[in-house]
Amino acid sequence: MQALFSDAFFKDLAKQYGTPLYVYSGDKIAQQYNHLKDSFEARSTRFFYACKALTNQHILQLIRDLGCGIDCSSINEAYMAVRAGFSPDRILYTSNGIAFEEIEAAVSLGIHINIDSLSNLEKMGAKYGHNYPVGIRLRPNIMAGGNLKISTGHEQSKFGIPLEQIEEILQIVRRHQMHIRGLHIHTGSEIKDVKVFMEGANRLLELIDYFPELSCMDLGGGFKVAYRPDESGTDILQLAAETKLIQEAMSKRAGRHIEIWFEPGKYLVSECGYLITHVNVIKENGSTIFAGIDSGFNHLIRPMFYDAYHHIRNISHPNAPEKKYTITGNICETDQFASDRLLPEINEGDYLVFFNAGAYGYEMSSSYNARSKPAQVLHYRGETRLISRRETLDDLMHLQIL
Ligand code: LLP
Repeated sequence: MQALFSDAFFKDLAKQYGTPLYVYSGDKIAQQYNHLKDSFEARSTRFFYACKALTNQHILQLIRDLGCGIDCSSINEAYMAVRAGFSPDRILYTSNGIAFEEIEAAVSLGIHINIDSLSNLEKMGAKYGHNYPVGIRLRPNIMAGGNLKISTGHEQSKFGIPLEQIEEILQIVRRHQMHIRGLHIHTGSEIKDVKVFMEGANRLLELIDYFPELSCMDLGGGFKVAYRPDESGTDILQLAAETKLIQEAMSKRAGRHIEIWFEPGKYLVSECGYLITHVNVIKENGSTIFAGIDSGFNHLIRPMFYDAYHHIRNISHPNAPEKKYTITGNICETDQFASDRLLPEINEGDYLVFFNAGAYGYEMSSSYNARSKPAQVLHYRGETRLISRRETLDDLMHLQIL
């Protein structure tokens, strides 16, 4: 896999800012968004960046300036979106299992809301009636996604209101004369097969007649990107072509223009990001050679949590003869980034760079073992800037009442 930055550039950053360090390419984010924008019909498709993937204000502002909307999964993300300068009509709050107070707070921001439970739908209807248009998050009963933990649309999933509860939904909607503006599904993350998106869209198409004020169908996020050297992502051109057909079918059935919304997270920010780490120790234990780095699942949890593969490059000795290494962290846990991975010979002091670290990397990091969260750097249009500093001991203790 080819990195977006040269080894020399990574090394310079490591020396200047220290390691571990997250680095992002803003140009790659722009390239990904522009590819979406150019592939889909502008009048019929809107994109909302699922900012749970990476919420730094500089990233949000960059994405705002590209013209993309933003999808939030908590009221605080919505406040961050407002701070980053998104206007309310470009902010979407797709809720899941939240207290009604958060929905009220979202209403006072004037943003789009997707409601995901009968009880909140009832409360919404009772309080706002027809006055605040909302979307309904449905569970499409489709199993898809990179692994079970990131599959959200199947029949055992907590997300959304199950399709088979449509009668209960309609009773609430009719009782309160609610204005249902959109229907929403999110089937999972890392869905390569375009058919899965279309299967979900077809389930929504079947519901159009029930909701006379619908103006958008939100198909969620989950476009796959390549994590392994031999992988490819969702075929965006095919997705765009098929979306156009289903959008036309929906508009025809509704008798008015229906927009399609998507909420990409990984697609926009996964490949733009890297985690640069430093090798502290090499340990040979029997047949295993451990390379112990200055990071851990406190900084990049995906390998441990989802058994996710992250490509690793030894930028210090990229051409050395290869050996098998188990890459481990420095926290007090069985903490592996990769096991028996073939990599160019690693020496203490080398830098190892992890790929696809932009989405759900820093964002899912913690200060476990009282180890500082890494700093973050953004490179965009030829300029490199620090966008968050490394945590200090004082930061780690600042909530404690001493
Ligand atoms: N929309 C909704 C309602 C979602 O729940 C999600 C992700 C997205 C959009 C964006 O999905 P994406 O395009 O990024 O696949 N931490 C996991 C991924 C969890 C995704 C949760 N929901 C990971 O690192 O693989």
